[in-house]
Amino acid sequence: MNLIKKMLVAPAAVMALWAVTAQATTDEAIAERLKPVGEVCVMGEECKGIEAVAAAAGGGARTADDIIGKHCGACHTAGVLGAPKIGDGAAWQARASNGVDGLLKNAIAGLNSMPPKGTCNDCSDDELRAAIEKMSGL
Ligand code: HEC
Repeated sequence: MNLIKKMLVAPAAVMALWAVTAQATTDEAIAERLKPVGEVCVMGEECKGIEAVAAAAGGGARTADDIIGKHCGACHTAGVLGAPKIGDGAAWQARASNGVDGLLKNAIAGLNSMPPKGTCNDCSDDELRAAIEKMSGL
């Protein structure tokens, strides 16, 4: 009985050790991948990746992709509730009888299942316009 227990414990210990080692390797790999963004910027020198840091911290300019990724994509990627899909030019064109201005107006006010400002309440009109242009290709 005791022997059987030992036989089971030994491989378990090996497995645990293996798991810890594997974890360490993964952490290192992650740190390596994060490095370029985390690197310190020296004043007066060009600092690559600073926009990425600013965007991640919630400050600085947001790109259309940021806004779409965080807000609009939830419905517009798959066409939830009849939302025109990202990149489906014809679907957007059909709505754009008043151009991007008309789309923007409806996006700000909301339209049926489309929530006002597409849930991006702190988006400026310009940011919403950029997101619409990007999604529609107009
Ligand atoms: C909760 C889901 C949802 C989210 C989030 C959402 N939309 Fe929509 N959107 C819709 C739906 C549904 C429609 C179609 C509304 C209709 O015609 O009844 C729509 C339509 C639109 C239209 C077309 C309006 C028109 O005049 O026909 C624009 C422009 C638009 N969305 C922009 C955006 C932008 C920009 C964002 C992100 C900031 C966003 N939407 C986020 C669901 C969403």
